[in-house]
Amino acid sequence: RIPVIIDCDTGVDDALALLFAVRHPGLELRAVTCVAGNTDVDGVVRNTLTVLEQAGAGDVPVARGAERPLIEAARSARHVHGADGMGDLGLPAPSRRPADVDAVTLLRREILGSPRPVTLIPTAPLTNIALLLRIHPEVTRNIERIVFMGGAVATGNATPVAEFNVWHDPEAAAVLLTAGVPITMYGLDVFQRVVVPGEEVRRLRASAEPGARLAGELLAHRPAAPDPDGDGPDGDDSAGGLGDAGAVCAVADPGGLTTRLLPVEVSLAPGPTRGQTVVDRRPRPGEAEIHGGAREQALVDVGLDVDVERYVELYLETVGRP
Ligand code: BDR
Ligand code: CA
Repeated sequence: RIPVIIDCDTGVDDALALLFAVRHPGLELRAVTCVAGNTDVDGVVRNTLTVLEQAGAGDVPVARGAERPLIEAARSARHVHGADGMGDLGLPAPSRRPADVDAVTLLRREILGSPRPVTLIPTAPLTNIALLLRIHPEVTRNIERIVFMGGAVATGNATPVAEFNVWHDPEAAAVLLTAGVPITMYGLDVFQRVVVPGEEVRRLRASAEPGARLAGELLAHRPAAPDPDGDGPDGDDSAGGLGDAGAVCAVADPGGLTTRLLPVEVSLAPGPTRGQTVVDRRPRPGEAEIHGGAREQALVDVGLDVDVERYVELYLETVGRP
């Protein structure tokens, strides 16, 4: 089994990601760390513990991390994820408490303590990961790869060009990109395409099994973006996007994601491009490089295409069928 750690801001689709990671037989979920993003960090911890309990995750350790980005103030996404950050589904409070160590300490412990190199899956602003890399750089020796949900090659969501997780803490994302370990960017371009049809969502909601039912409720809350005509893809109002869970699918089944190794840089400038992931898809260097010399840029495996049916099927098979 692949040892994985999810760093999240649960979050409707982070919850979908957790459910999948707990249930997939090829993944060993070693820990879950929480960061401010979709909602405040205490809300994220609570939501994460509740979801893991519903999923039957046992005693997977959960730790509280950064309560705000490195430089800016926290800005929640409650308009997308509900007042509780997780769709206001009225879920019970968790009966378990988080670990008494902070997220960075838990990440270090679980990464260095793993007999096999760990795959890190951040599905949230990258504050915890940046702090980890700065405080304990030795962890990179036991990281197999970082597969993060964030960034966009084309259009953003938080701004016209910036995706929420990177926009929320651009400096942290910049630290991640230069970590010196293999990185896969599961950006908005692929993230928005993996949508579960309404018929399957209804089937999950009717399930007697609590984990599958929760996945159905979460998917029903999840907008099936993009939706230019305003009535869901092909007029199907109950379809729901897998969102962050797609990044975990990409770890369990990398063959479903087409990537290309490309230079990526985060715009840290104030103004309209802040938080943009600038992905260089040009076939050859241009005038800027000829006149100004080459820039040092991180090379990242950027997700450019996704086999939607394959990931939807994988998700339903893993979470939906007892
Ligand atoms: C990302 O931001 C959050 O709202 C989602 O959970 C996802 O991680 C999308 O931009
Ligand atoms: Ca998220």
